[in-house]
Amino acid sequence: MSETPQVVIADFFCDQLEPERKVLGDVARLTALRARSEDDLVGRVEEVEAIILYHEVSLTRRTIERLRRCKLIVRGGVGVDNVDLATARAYGIPVANVPDYGSEEVADTAIAMTLSLTRGVHFMNSRLRAGENRVEGTGQEGGWSYSLVAPLVRLRGRTFAVVGLGRIGSAVALRAKALGMDVAFYDPYKPDGYEKALGIRRVETLDALLAESFVVSLHCPLTDETRQMIDAAAIARMPRGSYLINTSRGGVVDVSALPDALASGHLAGAGIDVLPQEPPSAEHPLLVAWRDPNHPAHHRLILTPHAAFYSEEGLLDIRIKTAEACRRAVLGMELRNVVN
Ligand code: NAI
Repeated sequence: MSETPQVVIADFFCDQLEPERKVLGDVARLTALRARSEDDLVGRVEEVEAIILYHEVSLTRRTIERLRRCKLIVRGGVGVDNVDLATARAYGIPVANVPDYGSEEVADTAIAMTLSLTRGVHFMNSRLRAGENRVEGTGQEGGWSYSLVAPLVRLRGRTFAVVGLGRIGSAVALRAKALGMDVAFYDPYKPDGYEKALGIRRVETLDALLAESFVVSLHCPLTDETRQMIDAAAIARMPRGSYLINTSRGGVVDVSALPDALASGHLAGAGIDVLPQEPPSAEHPLLVAWRDPNHPAHHRLILTPHAAFYSEEGLLDIRIKTAEACRRAVLGMELRNVVN
């Protein structure tokens, strides 16, 4: 009799694995490895038929070339930048993602950050709690009034710039349209026609889009092309007093440019859900500025811990969908959402 196929969850989920067992229990033996680094996988993945991988570990050539039976690596998420796709392809191992589990939540978060920043919600709440009631620039008491945050401008008609018009970018565009904003996007890989379907504007170059933006919201993948695409020079192209939202991947922004951009007022605010290194070091200049009550970024920067995707429903979706992908691989069925 042949051995029961093994499926492992490399990282992140290590509870009773109830959702996964419901899907896979009759066809595979399931184990959660709780890996924190690739080293933790040594001797534990070589014979598995499928690997479920979240975001705490990367799979590089070092691991991939030891996989003897693997029929699928499935990323519990959209971004696949933590898997060496080319090596997996060279070894004949498909890599799939779960593209749709949290699109709405990420879009909602991008809009939540946009509204919180542009309406001054975060700024006023943060300053009031800190006991700061002086009007910026004048030093006069602002008291318990809007003057704490003045001047704010109306959103209607201002440009909301979407960089990357994929699933999430499109969902964000629809939400920003509902706010009455003038939605424009830059996405060199999106075929013509989506601007008409969504009723938004295409802008041909990133520079041109940045130059007219009130809010820039990033929704592209992290690739060699997009790495640090939003650096000090790109931010300088945005109008003074504009806002930057990043719920895509930390590496798309050169975050070391943010403290100065916020301090000078060039950026009026930033909402950052993703950082190049997660969790970040406590000494990272962005975190130092954000924590320091005397730094302007303190009240103008919203940081969240790569949580834009999160809802209980989305989490369950992702667990069921990764398990379903493994089930298809174990049973030799056609795979879905293969990205390499
Ligand atoms: P998608 O693949 O549907 O869309 C990405 C879009 O970016 C595509 O239309 C593509 O043509 C475009 N793009 C590629 N290169 C580009 C470039 N150089 N400039 C402009 N656009 C470019 O992906 P989806 O599902 O919309 O996800 C978007 C981003 O959100 C990804 O980076 C993903 O990793 C991230 N994400 C973040 C989450 C969070 O919790 N913060 C959760 C889920 C996704």
